[in-house]
Amino acid sequence: MTFTLNEADVIDRIFAHMDAKTTDAGERVWREPVENYRSIERFNAEIELLRRLPVPFCPSAALPEAGSFIARTAAQTPIVAVRGDDGVVRAFRNACRHRGMAVASGSGCARAFVCPYHAWTYGLDGNLKHIPGREGFPDIDMKAHGLVPVTAEERGGLVFITQETPVSNGALDAMPEILSPLQDMFATDEYSDAANWKLIAETSMEGYHIKSLHNRSFYPYGLDNTNIVEISGLNSRIIFPFRRINKLRDIPREKRRMSGMTTDVFQFFPNTHLSVLSNHTQLVILEPISPSETLSIVYRLRNLDANGAPVDLEVARRDAGFVKNSGIEEDREAARTIQAGLGSKANSHFTFGHYEKAIVHFHENLAAHLRRMGAPAA
Ligand code: FES
Ligand SMILES: [Fe+2]
Repeated sequence: MTFTLNEADVIDRIFAHMDAKTTDAGERVWREPVENYRSIERFNAEIELLRRLPVPFCPSAALPEAGSFIARTAAQTPIVAVRGDDGVVRAFRNACRHRGMAVASGSGCARAFVCPYHAWTYGLDGNLKHIPGREGFPDIDMKAHGLVPVTAEERGGLVFITQETPVSNGALDAMPEILSPLQDMFATDEYSDAANWKLIAETSMEGYHIKSLHNRSFYPYGLDNTNIVEISGLNSRIIFPFRRINKLRDIPREKRRMSGMTTDVFQFFPNTHLSVLSNHTQLVILEPISPSETLSIVYRLRNLDANGAPVDLEVARRDAGFVKNSGIEEDREAARTIQAGLGSKANSHFTFGHYEKAIVHFHENLAAHLRRMGAPAA
């Protein structure tokens, strides 16, 4: 199962909603206990879930050639992902098999990983190739002391990592081909917020707050509470139309194109979203640090123009700057102030209504997965 809506159908539905002043609505209302944003037991269970699902680690474009690597923590595990000489992306626990130092840091291109501590050296395939002063370790089995692999898979232009035995199978079957191999990465970013990762995740899952929270940033270009929501397996896609989509009304139905007329936000359960904006595409992976702190890891890729060539770099950068400094900052501020008020005892639970369909889907799936893993319920 994957996302199936075609452009003409989406545009028809958007015009119908605009004319009737309606939006895609969910069938259920969800009550999420506030304790689930604060409890350390719940947090630990969520970290375990993140290790037991295929979770995006980076775009394929972030590892463009043999030896390209990225090292960072994923669900609190230090991981290094690297493209091998055979073109295959592999990922390892980023800990030396001698005494555990990280063998890679940041990102770059390497021919081998040389541990900074005593220079044990590993190939791009993780094999231990060299121990300086080998005679000091007379009995060591070199083959048994390679970097410890985790599962890495490339799908739809993204690298997914699964650290532990998956809690459910087939999570990647619904992966759509969203990114083109021609889209290059032009920027990365990281920011940290004093907010639970789910509060940040929720900001990108509905358009019910466009007029209110984004009154001066997105609302002048966009529409309030007018969205298409498509559910596909665990994932969802939320389409936010721009006002300029009205221009398409004069164009024959079969010639209408969505490009530049909407923002498409794909939610990959549970902690990642990919936003296809006007001139760039942004992958955001939420790395939970504690129940009240989250690191957002951002990768930005250029979109392609009508002729299939990457848009001008300056155009992509301007697009990214606008989104980052206006709307996203407003979303982050909302998440931070909610976090600050969680202990106020004003709410025992938060209520997600019919206009927050993708969030209801997210919480239903999250609760079901944690139940399956035997996590305690709030
Ligand atoms: S800890 Fe890596 S070589 Fe000693
Ligand atoms: Fe927002």
